[in-house]
Amino acid sequence: MPEFSLIVAHDKNNLIGNKGSLPWKLPEDLRHFKQTTMGKPLLMGRKTFESIGSKPLPGRPCYVLSKKLSAGRPLKNRLANKENAFTVFESETEAISYFNTSDYDEVVIVGGAETYKLFLPHCNRLIISLVYGEFTGDTYFPDYSNLLNTSFKLSSSTSYNDFQVLEYKRIS
Ligand SMILES: NC(=O)c1ccc[n+]([C@@H]2O[C@H](COP(=O)([O-])OP(=O)(O)OC[C@H]3O[C@@H](n4cnc5c(N)ncnc54)[C@H](OP(=O)(O)O)[C@@H]3O)[C@@H](O)[C@H]2O)c1
Repeated sequence: MPEFSLIVAHDKNNLIGNKGSLPWKLPEDLRHFKQTTMGKPLLMGRKTFESIGSKPLPGRPCYVLSKKLSAGRPLKNRLANKENAFTVFESETEAISYFNTSDYDEVVIVGGAETYKLFLPHCNRLIISLVYGEFTGDTYFPDYSNLLNTSFKLSSSTSYNDFQVLEYKRIS
């Protein structure tokens, strides 16, 4: 059974998105994202999938949560996952059952807000880029302040120019 990890960049107010894309331009954080997720299966919501151009990120099997995209498609087509193909799950339970019987050691939840909210209770590791400053936007990561030190413990912290990467591991 794989572990679920979550990777997100949010500002001091937990803002993560603006009009379907990111509120900031941070090439260094995109490099960190690429390095951290390379080779690992990624699970994302349909809106985030559209925000990255409706195609998989290179080198990472792509799984998309969407009732809309799954409607009317035969299961075997949806589960085909060749290069440039992606798999659609019509519910989080379908996704979890699929991953629990897969060979993956780790699945990375890459957003957005709706998807983070659904999977936060299943995650063992949080990789948070805390972006310095306050930005304008419309989509927020769920408030997890009450989980820190009760369910998650800080395991590492790395500083960059415009953000800090905080990694938390589940303790209960
Ligand atoms: N800063 C960051 O680290 C970061 C990371 C990722 C995304 N973002 C930003 O976050 C924003 C998008 O987030 P979002 O919350 O609006 O959308 P999202 O989570 O990316 O996608 C939402 C969609 O996922 C599907 N979905 C949600 N729950 C489902 C369920 N239980 N079963 C089946 N499908 C389900 C639905 O698709 P259907 O409508 O097709 O059924 C829903 O409309 C964008 O601005 C993006 O740039 C930021």
